[in-house]
Amino acid sequence: MIELELLAAKPVEAIVLAEPRAIEDLPTPSLLLDEVVLDANIAQMAQYLAQHNKKFRPHAKTHKCPLISRRQMAAGAVGVCVAKVSEAFVQASAGIHDILVTSPVTTVDRVPVIAQTLLKAPQLKLAVDSNLAVDVASAAAELAGQELGLVLDIDVEMGRTGNRDTLELIALAKRIGDHALLRLCGVQHYAGHLQHIEEFAERQERSLNSWGQALALADSIREAGFALEIVTGGGTGTFDIDTALDALTDLQVGSYIFMDAEYLDIGGADGRSQLPFDPSLMIQASAISQPVNGMVTLDTGFKSMASETVAPQFVDLPGARFKFAGDEQGVAILPKGSQEPMLGRKFRMITPHCDPTVNLYDYYWVHKDGYVHSLWPITGRGCAW
Ligand SMILES: Cc1ncc(COP(=O)(O)O)c(C=O)c1O
Repeated sequence: MIELELLAAKPVEAIVLAEPRAIEDLPTPSLLLDEVVLDANIAQMAQYLAQHNKKFRPHAKTHKCPLISRRQMAAGAVGVCVAKVSEAFVQASAGIHDILVTSPVTTVDRVPVIAQTLLKAPQLKLAVDSNLAVDVASAAAELAGQELGLVLDIDVEMGRTGNRDTLELIALAKRIGDHALLRLCGVQHYAGHLQHIEEFAERQERSLNSWGQALALADSIREAGFALEIVTGGGTGTFDIDTALDALTDLQVGSYIFMDAEYLDIGGADGRSQLPFDPSLMIQASAISQPVNGMVTLDTGFKSMASETVAPQFVDLPGARFKFAGDEQGVAILPKGSQEPMLGRKFRMITPHCDPTVNLYDYYWVHKDGYVHSLWPITGRGCAW
């Protein structure tokens, strides 16, 4: 199939530069990744979860880069999550064998890609919340001639994916159990609408409440005679909240590796003003025009940074605010009385929302000690199907 051939042809491995390049010399907009901060974030999360007896299954929809998945696996991850089957294929092709697709698949056009992915990644799992999703999974397992794992997606109040009806969930478990090539592995619950609640105490109360309801549903499924080995879910905003739940087996943390402007805005535990991770991902932009005083136009707009609500944060232009000004431009509104920057200068910003921003670039410029040494392909770029 042409779409799979194209995915298989995408670059995966790092391109190491013959000569390191100064960050300031890169063409802009450029997506910069600080390797030291990235590794520190990966290690920090792995250590915290190990101390709290939790596994982790980091969400690769954040970075779309098998090289980063490999680092997370090396840090102890049990596997990775992805949102879409095309992302799963890319990760599987790069040697990741335990992959959970967290968004349900209900169309038969995906059967071949699921089957091909399963052949590469025997521990592939799909989240399901309907009969149709189970039927698509069974068609894929039959095509591959191999067992396929499923997790039941439980919704409580978010209303995006998942099922919140006990009897329907039990019926789905039975439908899975009736199929020789399907295996019920467990349940998933993700409360994305709670991840960015600013105050830790409110986030904590609402996440534990949401999980309480999800786990009660899981208990009903167990009481109906089904084993649930995996209980997976949660995100960066609740990583140190959900660990309090004995029943939870692994966390699907995603954004912690990069820390975008959305996550920098929320408070941490014990009165701390932030979560214990640092921004590793930045956009570098150039000043291209100054039609009005007090502002400078940069070469970064909607085609190089994605956000539904939050603006990027300047790291080297104190007090300035960013305003989107079109597809290719954005404006830095300078603080009153500040000296206006010269045209041609370059500035760095913390990304507004990391996942969709990453999807706008072909590769990360990976740097250490102020110099870029490698390009890491964003192999899953455009894998939205
Ligand atoms: C199902 C699911 N799990 C986990 C995550 C990771 O969340 P975060 O990036 O907040 O860590 C996401 C992100 O949207 C998600 O959709």
